[in-house]
Amino acid sequence: MEQKQGRRLVLFPLPLQGHINPMLELANILHSRGFYITVIHTNFNSPNPSNYPNFTFHSFPDGLSQTEASTNDIPSLLLHLNTKCVQPFKECLATLISVASEEPYTCLISDGLFHFTQAVADSFKLPRVVLRTAGASSFAVFTAFPLLLEKDYFPIQDSRLEEAVIELPFLKVKDLPTMSTRNPEKFFELLTTMISATKASSGIIWNTFEDLEQPALDLLKKQLCVPLFSIGPFHKYNSAISSGSLLTEDKSSISWLDTQPPKSVVYVSFGSIAATSEAEFLEIAWGLANSEQPFLWVVRPWSVSGAEWLELLPKGFIENLGGRGHIVKWAPQKEVLAHVSVGAFWTHNGWNSTLESICEGVPMICMPCFSDQKVNAVYVSRVWKVGFQLENGKLERGEIEQNIRKLMKAKEGEEIRCRASKLKEKSLSCLKQGGSSYQSLDSLVSHILSLESFSFPAKS
Ligand code: UDX
Repeated sequence: MEQKQGRRLVLFPLPLQGHINPMLELANILHSRGFYITVIHTNFNSPNPSNYPNFTFHSFPDGLSQTEASTNDIPSLLLHLNTKCVQPFKECLATLISVASEEPYTCLISDGLFHFTQAVADSFKLPRVVLRTAGASSFAVFTAFPLLLEKDYFPIQDSRLEEAVIELPFLKVKDLPTMSTRNPEKFFELLTTMISATKASSGIIWNTFEDLEQPALDLLKKQLCVPLFSIGPFHKYNSAISSGSLLTEDKSSISWLDTQPPKSVVYVSFGSIAATSEAEFLEIAWGLANSEQPFLWVVRPWSVSGAEWLELLPKGFIENLGGRGHIVKWAPQKEVLAHVSVGAFWTHNGWNSTLESICEGVPMICMPCFSDQKVNAVYVSRVWKVGFQLENGKLERGEIEQNIRKLMKAKEGEEIRCRASKLKEKSLSCLKQGGSSYQSLDSLVSHILSLESFSFPAKS
């Protein structure tokens, strides 16, 4: 622990797994740099405070109905959160800062998608720093949406899917980061509001590193005109930090991996939101089984439509694998990816999964589902070349089997593995003294300390 800065930061994560993890990792990083941490969170998907004894937690009722909270329509959920949280968040913040504290509140750090917090912070004259939990390259694509709308790329037409997007390097029309929603116009509105609130902030923290996303970071620096701090990968600062998992991690994942040969296992997980149809689930199962490669597969409860968990698997499927496959509801993913037996990650390319895989040098088979995942998959396969894409339309057992073999056995796989291990080195060296993220964190700390805030009542 470094010397105390005598300042307190208020952090407000978006209540989704892929956003809670990086916010709590950031909290740990800033705490280790001497800041006191208060976390405000919604009752919905609340993190477990007992995993973080050094932080103070305050929750508020978010007012989401059961239907709103359990929807798969993420843009609609974000819309509700940005509307329903305004008043209770404001009240929670007001209560906190009205009480005299040993340490003055210096700033609010809130998720980029919680755009309403900019106006709330302004109303309290409290500076707001944004945490973007996804990558910079995908954000750069979002900032180009007004131009793409003007050029008639949206709504996306099936006949244009393979066309290159000339305004954006590397992307084809099918890679544009859209999301299926009942309110497509609201999705665009959400992005526009998110971007303008981000521009009005006092700075942006990114869970990325310069060597990985330099071009996008340079572009955004010019476009957004606020200080950027790329201090990632967050989870590599301290390997002993607590897990922010909302589901229980099944530790049998690790004991099973211990029994497998080095670099042999295909780890399969599609994050915390993506869902599959019954037909897709069966193709995945048979593709994995037919690949003859050991696999560890995360199937979240209720993530396969029409099934609670594995009941759609054919009778005897697991027994017939003879121990070659292990299926869990939720895995300790970072530990899994760092395990010597893991040789590949079949992923949906959520930003956290992508970064976690890069940091362990694990090559990826990419199957993006929506939003930034599509851009991340393009960068993994066409820019960094540490994986390749399994096209969504081709979720078919023969295709899966062939792709797994290509990565695990063919020359192409060897080259990908080699590039992945070089990128891993870069992801670690940026955190060392003098490295880009190390320096960026120093700048972030100085920046926070320099912020002109109301400096809410310190005890006299
Ligand atoms: C969401 C969006 O889908 C993604 O596009 C965006 O970049 C972040 O928010 P999610 O789908 O959950 O995230 O994916 P991801 O970003 O990969 O985050 C999942 C997190 O859960 C990772 O930190 C991963 O380590 C963890 N995880 C996942 C587990 O701990 N165990 C598991 O079994 C699966």
